[in-house]
Amino acid sequence: MAETPYKEKEYGVGIAGYGFIGKVHAYAYKTIPFYYDDLPAKIKLIGVSAHSEESRKKAIKQAGFEFATSDYMELVKNKSICIINCCLPNNLHYELVKAAILEGKHVYCDKPLAINTEQAENLTNLAENSNVKTQIVFQLRFFPAVIRAKQIIDNGFLGKINFFRFLYLHSSCVKQSSKPYSWKAEFEKVGGGVLVDLGSHIIDLARYLVGEFKSVYAEVRNFTSPDKRTDDLALINAEIVSGATGILEASKIATGTNDEVRFEIYGSEGAVAFNSMEPNWLWAYSMKDPDNPVGGFRGYKKIETVQKYPDATGIPLQKFSIGWIRTHVACLHSFLHSVMYNETPQPSFKDGLAVQKIIEAAYNSARDQTRVEL
Ligand SMILES: NC(=O)c1ccc[n+]([C@@H]2O[C@H](COP(=O)([O-])OP(=O)(O)OC[C@H]3O[C@@H](n4cnc5c(N)ncnc54)[C@H](O)[C@@H]3O)[C@@H](O)[C@H]2O)c1
Repeated sequence: MAETPYKEKEYGVGIAGYGFIGKVHAYAYKTIPFYYDDLPAKIKLIGVSAHSEESRKKAIKQAGFEFATSDYMELVKNKSICIINCCLPNNLHYELVKAAILEGKHVYCDKPLAINTEQAENLTNLAENSNVKTQIVFQLRFFPAVIRAKQIIDNGFLGKINFFRFLYLHSSCVKQSSKPYSWKAEFEKVGGGVLVDLGSHIIDLARYLVGEFKSVYAEVRNFTSPDKRTDDLALINAEIVSGATGILEASKIATGTNDEVRFEIYGSEGAVAFNSMEPNWLWAYSMKDPDNPVGGFRGYKKIETVQKYPDATGIPLQKFSIGWIRTHVACLHSFLHSVMYNETPQPSFKDGLAVQKIIEAAYNSARDQTRVEL
């Protein structure tokens, strides 16, 4: 394996894929210096890959890459690039990420890690036995409200967690426009359907906030896609190792929704709730608050998490409202911090693998109509 260029003063970046999320990654790189002062080395966007010439031209114009190519392997071979961002369709992650690790590049891979457990396991083993830093993009962990939820759960605020609900709701399949179906409606390219595309995010959040899964019982349905093997609705009942139980719902047929992530976690001493469409607040309820006279102080408290990132020192100030794209910036910053300070990136490829195993168990459960142990 090639030597890892940890100590470079300038980190050259190659972004493979400049569709929707490739642009978001490029935006995050460009804006990080405005938000954070703690990265000692510079970042330079060197190369980008995209299918269409129009996208390649746009990438150079929008983000200032030095070159654009139709062959993402050119990025891996390029000596000036030491960080590869994987923003390709899911079925191409394996080839790119494997080649990048073997070439000694750090890898920032958008979810899911791969299209099946075998591939995810191989990539995780490869990453574990290398000197490079690898992170999977589960950026929902980086909402300040989620960071705060994790803190108060770890501090015992909820007592014993009994049950929970995690939802990721889109309405993109409710009404098909004249737009052709994208690769996201093709089973082979996704490795499934909405369970992979949106479900992976909330499975990660549930593992992060509530704990490891013990078993799943799932139902997946396809109401709209012409590829009958894919799904646009996935319902999972998950049993957690701690004894908690809960529901996860991933849907692209949730009429009236935009991009809505919700969770509610209920414990013996309290509860927390979040909705990404109102991302400035974490709702928290404590059984310890006095409930009289006349209700005392009992009730859900609206905690103002807004942009209270502890490590962000630039603009905007912490009091300003937060949005989805800011979580991508925070997620990428955590990766770059790990690369530059030789820390272990989180969420890791191991997290990506754990999510992939749960997805596979859920598909098996839905197929066999039985509960599947993990
Ligand atoms: N974390 C998130 O919030 C989030 C959101 C959207 C997508 N994603 C993930 O990002 C990845 C990309 O999704 P997207 O929505 O940006 O897709 P997209 O279709 O918008 O973009 C895909 C890019 O890959 C390129 N590409 C496609 N097929 C190729 C091929 N055969 N060879 C070379 N290049 C090819 C396209 O030219 C395009 O630049 C997926 O893994 C998806 O799950 C993550």
